[in-house]
Amino acid sequence: MPFIVFEGLDGSGKSSLMSAFERELQSKGLKTIRTREPGGTPLGDEIREMILRRDGPAPTPRTELLLYEASRAQHVDQVIRPHLEKNDWVLCDRFSASSVAFQAGGRAISEDWVEKLNDFATDGLKPELTVLLDLSVGESRRRRNNRESQGGEKEDRIESEADSFHERVRQAFLRQAQQDPKHWLVLNAGATPEELLKQLNEHVRSLKWLGF
Ligand SMILES: Nc1ncnc2c1ncn2[C@@H]1O[C@H](COP(=O)(O)OP(=O)(O)O)[C@@H](O)[C@H]1O
Ligand SMILES: [Mg+2]
Repeated sequence: MPFIVFEGLDGSGKSSLMSAFERELQSKGLKTIRTREPGGTPLGDEIREMILRRDGPAPTPRTELLLYEASRAQHVDQVIRPHLEKNDWVLCDRFSASSVAFQAGGRAISEDWVEKLNDFATDGLKPELTVLLDLSVGESRRRRNNRESQGGEKEDRIESEADSFHERVRQAFLRQAQQDPKHWLVLNAGATPEELLKQLNEHVRSLKWLGF
């Protein structure tokens, strides 16, 4: 059941690497699904809008955590598990580790609570591999600004948080990776897209998953 999650600050290159890796899988004739959090289902997309919009009432930190978890539960039940049961490769942009990074690290909610709610929302489902695209806060902001000035995604409510918030998020991602090296791959997101794809390919090859 190849379930791979991509994590990192916004602008770290998750979408770019996911597209390139998905093409790689498809060229090997493997069936893939690419999805994201919050969102990934029609209800989840509505919750995403509630969390990320900048022109509506902002949730408090506990509410925000519960909204992410609600979106996640729907996503696991309706999309992720059904695809894993068919042996499709599931590539997911953010998952439980983002709640630990943003809600525990960024918002200072207790990590115990975040983990309990993650377990409840995922019904115990864990990715086999989490790829962390590690990038400095300054570089991540530069890339987001570039993307926005080229007509790409606009800054959302979470992205507009202070650099100190994003620095705590970055450190919380790195801590999780250090605590579970068997299930994490940390890549220096400052590398070129070609180099990142090569490193990911090599790592997945070393895992010897069926079909890769
Ligand atoms: N390895 C890379 N080196 C330099 N720029 C990159 C790299 N990967 C992505 N980018 C650029 O950085 C911006 C953010 O990338 P994106 O894939 O949208 O990140 P994310 O999905 O993590 O927010 C985009 O403009 C993208 O073209
Ligand atoms: Mg993206």
